[in-house]
Amino acid sequence: MAERVSGGRKLLAGAAVALLASGLGGCALKGGQNVSLVEGKTLFVKNCASCHTLARADAKGVIGPNLDAAFAESISQGFGRSVISGIVEQQVEYPSTAGRMPKLPLTTRQAADIASYVAYAAAKPGQDSGLLASVGSSKVGPPAVEKDGKLAIDANPSGQLLYTVKAASATAGPITISMTNMSGVDHNLAIQQGTSANGSPLAATPITASGTHSITLNLKPGSYTFFCQVPGHRAAGMYGTLTVK
Ligand code: HEC
Repeated sequence: MAERVSGGRKLLAGAAVALLASGLGGCALKGGQNVSLVEGKTLFVKNCASCHTLARADAKGVIGPNLDAAFAESISQGFGRSVISGIVEQQVEYPSTAGRMPKLPLTTRQAADIASYVAYAAAKPGQDSGLLASVGSSKVGPPAVEKDGKLAIDANPSGQLLYTVKAASATAGPITISMTNMSGVDHNLAIQQGTSANGSPLAATPITASGTHSITLNLKPGSYTFFCQVPGHRAAGMYGTLTVK
C-alpha cells in the first residue's frame, strides 16, 4: 500500500499542471451536492466498487488500491480536492496499459462525474447525507427462506459486492437456487459445504453481468456457504450462510 500511495503522489505534479492548463479546477465541487456528485457516486458503485475500497460509497473492492488510503496523504499535505479529481479522471481515461486497471467504456463526462465524487469522498470522515446517501445502497435484507424447493439469493442491484441477503435457510432435499443480477457487474453464485474460506463448490451459476441463473442440487442438513467466485468478491463480503435443516 505504501507503494501505491507514493505512486499516487508521483502523479500529482503532472495532474495539477494539466488541471491548471484546462481551467477545470474545482468547479464540479461548488455548491456541495450537485447532480454530478450523485451521478458520479452511482457510476462509481457500478464501475469501480468491484475493485476499489472507498468508505463513503460502501465500496469494499480489494483488487486495486484503497482510494481513501491512496489520497489521505495528499489531502493531509494540503492538496486541494480538485487536484485529486484531476488525478482520478486521468486514471479512468488513461489507465496504464502495464497495470491491471481496465479502460472502461465511460464517456468523458461520466469519468469527470466519477472523479468529482471520488475527490469529494476520499478519506473524508463521516457518511454521505441527503440525496447522496440513497445512492449505491449496501442494504442487506432479512434472511431468504426456501419455499417449495426454490430459493432466491440475488446480487446487490447497485453493484456493491454483496448479495441482498447474508443468510438463507432451506429444508433438506432437492433445491433450486436462483441468482438475479441486475447490477451490470460480473457475479455468480456458488455453493460449498461448511464455512471454510476455500471450500470447493458443489455447484455454481455462470459468471455474468446480468440476468437470472440457477443451480439445482440435493442438500443434506448442515451449514453451507454461498459466495461469488469472481476474484476479490468473496473477500470483500460477497458471501453468506445457507442453513439446511
Ligand atoms: C478490474 C479492477 C479495477 C476496476 C474495475 C477499476 N480499477 Fe482503478 N485500479 C485498479 C488497479 C489494479 C490499480 C493499480 C494501478 C494499475 O494496476 O494500473 C488501480 C488504480 C487506480 C487509481 C490510482 C490509485 C493510486 O494510488 O495511484 C485510481 C484513482 C483508480 N484506480 C480509480 C478507479 C475508478 C474511479 C474506477 C471506476 C471508473 C476504477 N478505478 C476501476 C483496478 C481497477
